Amino acid sequence: MDRRHFLLAGCKACAALAAVPALASLESCSTGKSAAGSTALAVENGVLSVPVASLSNGVGMISAKGLDDKLYISKGADGTYKALVLHCPHKGGPVKPSGDKLICNWHGSVFDMDGKVTKGPSQQGLKVYPVEVAGDVLKVRVA
Ligand code: FES
Repeated sequence: MDRRHFLLAGCKACAALAAVPALASLESCSTGKSAAGSTALAVENGVLSVPVASLSNGVGMISAKGLDDKLYISKGADGTYKALVLHCPHKGGPVKPSGDKLICNWHGSVFDMDGKVTKGPSQQGLKVYPVEVAGDVLKVRVA
């Protein structure tokens, strides 16, 4: 195969790959994985049931019907779980995990993984919901 035919074959292969819709869904799958709980979870009687398997190494961001904000669920060194509400107490900005911190990019508030403020302007920590372990399911009391 000469250089010209090699390049033509390569271009045809690229064009064929671009036409495969599965590639687009792969990208959306990888995006969806970080929002582990964005599957059909819902609050029932004030309790959100979260399968432990939906977390990655005991950590996950969870969305659910009936909740205005995402939750950040994490397992502590003592084996207990906590659920932090990712809603900034300052002016309501979305809070996102970044390394070992939780950050609101609206005005720069920073929270530790317990939800306590480490840098303002927020004067309050993140809201924390109690979590009970019931077998393979976490019961987050949100009301
Ligand atoms: S809304 Fe989060 S720092 Fe202002």
